[in-house]
Amino acid sequence: MDSKKLAGEKAVEFVEDDMIVGLGTGSTVYWTILKLAERIKEGLKINGVPTSKDTEQLAIKLGIPLVDLSVLSKVDLAIDGADEVNPNLALIKGGGGALLREKMIASISEKFIIVADGSKFVQSLGTFPLPIEVIPFGWELTKKQIEKIGPINPILRLKNNTPFITDNGNYILDCYMKSIEKPEDLTVQLNMIPGVVENGLFVNMCDFAIIAGNNDTIEIKY
Ligand code: 5RP
Repeated sequence: MDSKKLAGEKAVEFVEDDMIVGLGTGSTVYWTILKLAERIKEGLKINGVPTSKDTEQLAIKLGIPLVDLSVLSKVDLAIDGADEVNPNLALIKGGGGALLREKMIASISEKFIIVADGSKFVQSLGTFPLPIEVIPFGWELTKKQIEKIGPINPILRLKNNTPFITDNGNYILDCYMKSIEKPEDLTVQLNMIPGVVENGLFVNMCDFAIIAGNNDTIEIKY
């Protein structure tokens, strides 16, 4: 079986009746959402909170009941994908540009589960370019401020030759680094720069990661 599907579907085993479930974004958690919709048709009672407009549309199409984040003070369980996961379960997220809503929902989740195929599990973060969401106003200045931190090489993300716009109306700078030695320090440094809305480092947030390898194997990393 496709490893994204295997990891994505496995996460549904942790969903229980009456939970508020954070619904992540991307091609791995897509399988989680499909499986959840199946379980709902069989009688599972949950409400979902989508982390992006794409996920919201998918959930509506599949008949998953949704609840607005504004009326919540916590989420029981959030399930999401990742671009990189290290052995401490620090993550790079935001390859799909949804990092801000993903982090907001993960931050109020009692449990945060990552689903990924084996290629995402790395010894050191940083091969995948780190996405940073910035406000469009003066983004060039924000980029210069980010460059002062070190050899980070931020590049404006483009789509069809124009800036990629997030669901929140912002831009993304993808940062090309060799490796990120201290993700907890870097996330603080980045978020202190005015103009930075959020960065794609998720540190001390993930409770466990469901990693699917070849030959239909699954490993749960704590
Ligand atoms: C979107 C994300 C995704 O979770 C991440 O990019 C992984 O996506 P995929 O499961 O498609 O590889 O952070 O902002």
